[in-house]
Amino acid sequence: MASVRIEASKAYEVIIEKGILERCGEIIRNAAGGDSVCVVTDDTVDALYGERCVASLLSSGYRVEKFVIPHGEQSKNASQFIRLLNFLAQKRFTRTDTVAALGGGVVGDLAGFAASCFTRGMKFVQIPTTLLAAVDSSVGGKTAIDLDAGKNLAGAFYQPEVVICDYLTLDTLPDDIFADGCAEVIKYGVIADAAFFEFLKQPVRENIEKVITRCVELKRDVVAADEFDNGIRFILNYGHTVGHAVEANSDFTISHGKGVAIGMCAEARAAARMGICSADCADAVESLVRSYGLPTRSPYDVRTLTEKALSDKKRRGGTIGVVVPTEIGKCRVEKFPVEKLCDFIGAGIE
Ligand code: NAD
Ligand code: GLY
Repeated sequence: MASVRIEASKAYEVIIEKGILERCGEIIRNAAGGDSVCVVTDDTVDALYGERCVASLLSSGYRVEKFVIPHGEQSKNASQFIRLLNFLAQKRFTRTDTVAALGGGVVGDLAGFAASCFTRGMKFVQIPTTLLAAVDSSVGGKTAIDLDAGKNLAGAFYQPEVVICDYLTLDTLPDDIFADGCAEVIKYGVIADAAFFEFLKQPVRENIEKVITRCVELKRDVVAADEFDNGIRFILNYGHTVGHAVEANSDFTISHGKGVAIGMCAEARAAARMGICSADCADAVESLVRSYGLPTRSPYDVRTLTEKALSDKKRRGGTIGVVVPTEIGKCRVEKFPVEKLCDFIGAGIE
């Protein structure tokens, strides 16, 4: 069992423990209080863990309602968001009640944004069930939905009361989805911790508690320094400039994790070609990414990727920042005039 305290505008614990889902009711009672909990989940996760979660909440004396969305990125949209707000209103939730996100990053982002808006902010709890959600999206308070014009374009910073990470739930993840989380795990090693990067040469599944805990600690440090993403937090976007462009071009048939895997390789390769890091550094990133069965090459050309990358929210007027490794375990933000982004992406994928 491990616990990491996040010091943001609201301080909270991330509890990482095998089997802890059975005790989520008592943990939510201590962290959030209130009378009622709305469990937000998707159909796949509901079938696997919905009953266990609801039973624990009922035994802690809560009134429980459940809101189930179809699984997948397509559900992180404005119509599910409005449906959820109306559901909370119809079921007479108040601001002292809790929204509990049981699922991956899609459920967490949608439920968290709804919790931040309903009655101008109700209690919110994250119960991540994917590796990606455990190491990244459930921690740090970013919530969002996608708009037609792009991913995560409407959202809020909204910290949870507690994060309950039962890593036993990761046992039912298909290998493919588990690998998506491994991309974000590798990201932490590249940007912030060379020893952890080395450690990842051993399989993540066999060291799951240690891996999740280290990623959450690394994210804790970044979030504590820059909760509202005006500075250092930007480094968490390593691999995401090209990654989001790949994801968006595929109409989200390429997952976030796989987009980030391709993006990390491309951004490291471009950095090596520009003399920012060594070729060995870029090779090491690519070889670790490949060892987790993740893709390393973009199926799209420079022009297509650049167009999408320029409509991303990482653009600031006439410049765009890209995170580049300087060596394994260290990175910096490189700022380009938008017209130069094409050269950078070209250097990364050609
Ligand atoms: P996801 O939530 O779509 O989950 C992936 C799939 O796994 C889904 O089909 C789901 O039903 C299934 N699943 C979930 N838990 C399972 C389990 N235990 N066993 C079997 N199947 C299970 O995707 P994700 O990869 O968790 O998250 C991706 C989303 O997270 C993207 O929308 C991305 O933008 C967002 N994200 C947000 C942040 C943030 O800081 N808020 C950070 C990174 C990513
Ligand atoms: N996943 C990016 C961030 O939390 O800032």
